Amino acid sequence: AESYPNVKRDERYATLEQSDIDYFKSILPENALIQDQDDLLFYNEDWMRKYRGQSKLTLKPKTTEQVSQILKYANERNLAVVPQGGNTGLVGGSVPVFDEIVLSLANMNKIRSLDTTSGIFKADSGVVLEVADQHLAENGYIFPLDLGAKGSCHIGGTVATNAGGLRLLRYGSLHGSVLGLEVVLANGKIVSSIDALRKDNTGYDLKQLFIGSEGTLGVITGLSILCPPRPKNFNVAFLGVESYEAVMKTFVKAKSELGEILSAFEFMDESCQELAKKHLKTAYPLEEQHPFYILIETSGSNGEHDLEKLEAFLESAFENEVIQDGVIAQDETQLKGLWNWREQIPEACQINGGVYKYDVSLPLSDLYGLVDAARERLTQAGLLGDTEDFPVIDAVGYGHVGDGNLHLNVAVRRYEKSVEKALEPFVYEWVSSKKGSISAEHGLGFQKKNYIGYTKSQPEIEMMKQLKQLYDPNAILNPYKYI
Ligand code: FAD
Ligand code: MLT
Ligand code: ZN
Repeated sequence: AESYPNVKRDERYATLEQSDIDYFKSILPENALIQDQDDLLFYNEDWMRKYRGQSKLTLKPKTTEQVSQILKYANERNLAVVPQGGNTGLVGGSVPVFDEIVLSLANMNKIRSLDTTSGIFKADSGVVLEVADQHLAENGYIFPLDLGAKGSCHIGGTVATNAGGLRLLRYGSLHGSVLGLEVVLANGKIVSSIDALRKDNTGYDLKQLFIGSEGTLGVITGLSILCPPRPKNFNVAFLGVESYEAVMKTFVKAKSELGEILSAFEFMDESCQELAKKHLKTAYPLEEQHPFYILIETSGSNGEHDLEKLEAFLESAFENEVIQDGVIAQDETQLKGLWNWREQIPEACQINGGVYKYDVSLPLSDLYGLVDAARERLTQAGLLGDTEDFPVIDAVGYGHVGDGNLHLNVAVRRYEKSVEKALEPFVYEWVSSKKGSISAEHGLGFQKKNYIGYTKSQPEIEMMKQLKQLYDPNAILNPYKYI
């Protein structure tokens, strides 16, 4: 992991003393304090192994009351705190920078209720996304968010980052589906809207402030979310096309012809699939290679009808030469297999040493241009090549085309400052010049803390700072990050 150059520990924060440990021991169960160096590594280091802090203490409370006591104490003592969910965040936001206390929500993992008439689901923050979804599945519902990290990320963590994921196209953003939150503010005050119903226009919609606030305004301890009925049937098609233009054409056609059953539209370039092949070591779904691939998922209530529609769509796309090749999964195993070629890309991009990730929103016509531009820049800088001499293996592109969200990933053999220098602020300038967003769904965290101005205006940043000042005047929550 990289160390943190150009940042200094802020001396306004106190350092942990034995009396602090004694206090935490007095309010928490014994196994809720982690102090062993080896055990702390998981909480100190991020998923990409790019960021590593030096926290000496992780706290794992079980109740909202305990979270409140911890924060009240930390606030009075000026002890900095990093809220942490499943630690799958991709911008260095979930780990400490120096010696901040890690406040892990992992032990707050109780499902509170599911109203099987309305689909309103309430749970603690630390419930793992897949666990929540399994519970919903047993009752005919689906969590309105799905992503590759579902086996580890927490539902509260996804709300704190406002994660987008693979089905945003169908279910919309968490800003729409989250109905209420239970939050502990920096001073320990508990503020809850968890019993809110579907419609509520009484004053400001305060919960929205915390959705996507990345642990800087409060700690989310519980949430209520509206879950749609689980589709009875899923179909997945995997297509090969000859250009990015064709990806866009296929998208327009899919929207028009698959309409209400379309639930995901993802694209992948050839380079990221090359990395996925090395990682997955299984037979590729298509026989021939293509510059771009598309994964389409449909889901609905009538399997036969859906499949008929998907087959007709594929046939017509093939006849009109929009697509060159395509397969449809014939059973559950094949369906999972096809999804793997998409969901395993993040892993495939980083296993050779590391990855620089850029998660951006762009107008669809400009979306892939960024990958070309980055590849050219890295090649010209002499950083990209086939041998060990070059830090960069490749610059690849994939993402949620349906949402205008590109993931530019630069897979590296090792983390090297020269690579970062070549890409930053180059990528952010490029995105800003197209009026895009430098963070579509992963947030700003530590990685993009200095670049918020490429997407947000000065008056907007000023308002964010005022809110931070108001709700966390001692700035104990997730310091050194984006605000
Ligand atoms: P963490 O990583 O622990 O934390 C993320 C941020 O939220 C941190 O700033 C942390 O301080 C804060 N936080 C966490 N919990 C709380 C809380 N209870 N209260 C207050 N603040 C809190 N993201 C997408 O948007 N779409 C994807 O498709 C997607 N796919 C992914 C695939 C993989 C393989 C991986 C590793 C990540 C992926 N992500 C994706 C990144 C995404 O941000 C996370 O998976 C998820 O949103 C973070 O959840 P988490 O519980 O791990 O949070
Ligand atoms: C994805 O879409 O796979 C995720 O956002 C993770 C990533 O960008 O690597
Ligand atoms: Zn994504």
